[in-house]
Amino acid sequence: MSNYHIKHLEEYWQVYRKSVRNPEMFWEEIAEEHFLWRKKWDKVLSWDFSTPEIKWFEGAKLNITENCLDRHLATRADKTAILFEPNDPGEAAQHITYRQLHERVCRMANVLADHGVGKGDRVCIYLPMIPELAVSLLACARLGAVHSVVFAGFSATALSTRINDCDCKLVICSDGSYRGKKTIDLKTIVDEALEDCPGVGTSLVVRRTGGKVSMQEGRDRWMQSLLDAAEPDRPATIVDAEDPLFILYTSGSTGKPKGMVHTTGGYMVYTAYTFKNAFQYREEDVYWCTADIGWITGHSYIVYGPLANGATSVMFEGVPSYPDYGRFWEIVKKHQVSQFYTAPTAIRALAKENIDFVNKHDLSSLKVLGTVGEPINEEAWHWYNENVGKKNSPIIDTWWQTETGGIMISPIPYSTPTIPTFATLPMPGIQPVLMDESGQEIQGNSVEGRLAIKFPWPSIARTIYGNHERYRETYFTAYPGNYFTGDGALRDTVGYYRITGRVDDVIIVSGHNLGTAPIEDAINEHPAVAESAVVGFPHDIKGNALYGYVTLKETGEGRDPENLRREINQLITDRIGPIAKLQKIQFTGGLPKTRSGKIMRRILRKIASKDTANLGDISTLLNPEVVQTIMDESLA
Ligand code: PRX
Repeated sequence: MSNYHIKHLEEYWQVYRKSVRNPEMFWEEIAEEHFLWRKKWDKVLSWDFSTPEIKWFEGAKLNITENCLDRHLATRADKTAILFEPNDPGEAAQHITYRQLHERVCRMANVLADHGVGKGDRVCIYLPMIPELAVSLLACARLGAVHSVVFAGFSATALSTRINDCDCKLVICSDGSYRGKKTIDLKTIVDEALEDCPGVGTSLVVRRTGGKVSMQEGRDRWMQSLLDAAEPDRPATIVDAEDPLFILYTSGSTGKPKGMVHTTGGYMVYTAYTFKNAFQYREEDVYWCTADIGWITGHSYIVYGPLANGATSVMFEGVPSYPDYGRFWEIVKKHQVSQFYTAPTAIRALAKENIDFVNKHDLSSLKVLGTVGEPINEEAWHWYNENVGKKNSPIIDTWWQTETGGIMISPIPYSTPTIPTFATLPMPGIQPVLMDESGQEIQGNSVEGRLAIKFPWPSIARTIYGNHERYRETYFTAYPGNYFTGDGALRDTVGYYRITGRVDDVIIVSGHNLGTAPIEDAINEHPAVAESAVVGFPHDIKGNALYGYVTLKETGEGRDPENLRREINQLITDRIGPIAKLQKIQFTGGLPKTRSGKIMRRILRKIASKDTANLGDISTLLNPEVVQTIMDESLA
């Protein structure tokens, strides 16, 4: 018997030890007992972290939608699969059953197939948090097509870059989206993006806001009439376990975004298993993850993990502040949510508001509270524990990444003791190690280092789309033989992990991963800008905010700094999206550089954080004198 569901700490340790002693056997048992395969694998795992090449369940055949939909029809056809809560609380929630979801997915798969989408084709999805978003992912998967979801807050340029990088031939979008009081015209953004995407022949447009949009003859079609006309059933296309399921872009510290490729079999097994255990999900529960499906959290823990377990997964279209700051808690009460999964930035934002927004709602349905996306600070942890969980619901601080596909380090609620700010223990099958700067593994407890993983797990991303060398270089060269996470961590006296944050030039703002290089590229496009450097600095709600140091060309001197700031932020909004806007912009005469010309961000970070007491040795800089100037200017 496999240990699919861990129920106490002793059992966790037994399972963990087993999973590490013989990972192949461990995952094979789980895969065999809990999923539907059309053909079993020839080999559970083959791997080599130097090439790197990782294959799980090689030779197996399946379709993930048969696991997420078809197989539930016998036992849970009328159970709610997706519980859609609209932006406007006056609009009725939709309870979409497994039977209905199955039908909607089949209809959309038929529509996509009619438009030439087949196995292996890439489809870009640019939709707000409406049911069609989940349906689109599954419709692609039904056909063996590869979805590439782009978060619908990204700009036209960011969208076209992602569409072109993986050669999507079709885009699924909507007329617009609702975010609180705002209505956003998404179709115009898509139209602008598609001007630069010659490979896209079709865009299918879902109607949500009913706003006026322009439809390009021969390219754009309304989705609904096509769905109505489509057949309500479609057999699933059977794929190999190692066939790609999706591509999802994430920022790197340099260069363009990385299209992380996740494959089918291992991803399914791992997300389903971790969903069951990290959330202690039980059949009657209502589970809610507040993330957007545009991020990995939504892929793994709104769509695939929950549905593979036959769960009820809430999808919320709106924002936590609309119509007031009690919206999350109102929804918890209304739908009797048992597991609630959100980001530290949302907790901090809500903690700032009047506590009555929380207290006026009965939250007694809650059993597990989760956080993800960045380190949670102690104050936010306690606020969450006391006010939302009433000290009765364990908080799972789940550490993981777009690249890892699923939760890697997290307490198992009701088993692992929780400690504020600690992600605690690895999930079964996960073998974390801490490395020192010289590349040696740090043994023992009460140590701090860089977090790496020394053995593959089923949902690790297999490559970066179109650039395997970058994949190798980014994740497998820092500590040969290990996957490097880019995070720092410490292991306490009893072996619990605490993630301390990124050790590279990725900055996490409101839980969103932002690389400094693409932001600097956008700033540098401004005709008056000579050079720029972006760093993070602590922010009460966002965790980090962005601070830009900008040097101007001669043509920029004498221009109104406020106007320049506005123009720079507009460029960033156009190129990347509003999430990457700079909170502060300091114009300066020069940037501190090493003799080889590398900008010393470490120093700029300290100045931005007002932590200038110990700047370290600056004498080896090419231009040490600029440091004082920048400090003086920053205070001015
Ligand atoms: O730095 C870590 C941070 O978020 C990074 C991954 O970001 P992304 O790929 O966008 O995925 C976010 C959702 C899975 C990590 O390298 N991070 C994520 N969760 C935590 C965290 N940092 C500390 N504690 C966490 N629980």
